[in-house]
Amino acid sequence: MKKLLLLFVGSLFFISCQESKKETMGITPEHKNEVVEAIKNRRSIRSYKPEQIDQAQLDTIIDCGINAPSALNRQSWEVRVIQNADLLKRINDSFVDKAKGKELKGSAARSQEPGFSVFHGAPTLIIVAKDKSNPYSAVDCGLLAQNILLSAESMDIGTCTIGNMASILNDPDAKGFLKEINMPDTHEVAFGIAIGYKNESPEAKTRDTSKVQYVK
Ligand SMILES: Cc1cc2nc3c(=O)[nH]c(=O)nc-3n(C[C@H](O)[C@H](O)[C@H](O)COP(=O)(O)O)c2cc1C
Repeated sequence: MKKLLLLFVGSLFFISCQESKKETMGITPEHKNEVVEAIKNRRSIRSYKPEQIDQAQLDTIIDCGINAPSALNRQSWEVRVIQNADLLKRINDSFVDKAKGKELKGSAARSQEPGFSVFHGAPTLIIVAKDKSNPYSAVDCGLLAQNILLSAESMDIGTCTIGNMASILNDPDAKGFLKEINMPDTHEVAFGIAIGYKNESPEAKTRDTSKVQYVK
């Protein structure tokens, strides 16, 4: 009986240790500042208010994006900020059409439901494209994106990275869309960023702290 009890307590301890590895760490009071707060408060937003973002705020956010570091300062990205409702609808329709009969993951699994939007109904969609000939371009684009995400968060503006945008816009039959947004042949779409005023406040997802190891 005693052994059983010890085994039970031991298992509980083991489970709680495992769980503590997967956690969202809080902000220590002495390291509380606006940058840390924006990083910790940012969430992927999947519900937006219909009104368009203030142009001055958007200009600042895009300016923060292009102030990201890039390999050899090549600024290898191409960025398109789409606010044309007709074009946004056609891009979404194209995704819905191609998704028919496919088993997709995440929110795209609901692609055939009425009112589905691959960019979550955001009034603005930023398309980020990488230079096909530059091996660092994906990293450049990722850094640009994070600057966009964090500067938006600092203004309480919601964002969501949309990887699905690459599959839609890099499809050979999507050349018309790329022409319409003036994308050069040298580039391919890396992802989109949905951006707009938040209409939800999702909880933080857990982070696996065991992915980080200090080697001293
Ligand atoms: C490269 C990349 C592609 C993503 N693609 C999508 C997407 O197509 N649709 C979506 O709703 N979220 C997408 N996300 C958002 C992730 O699901 C989200 O960042 C992750 O679940 C962590 O949640 P958090 O951003 O709220 O911390 C993507 C994120 C990244 C970095």
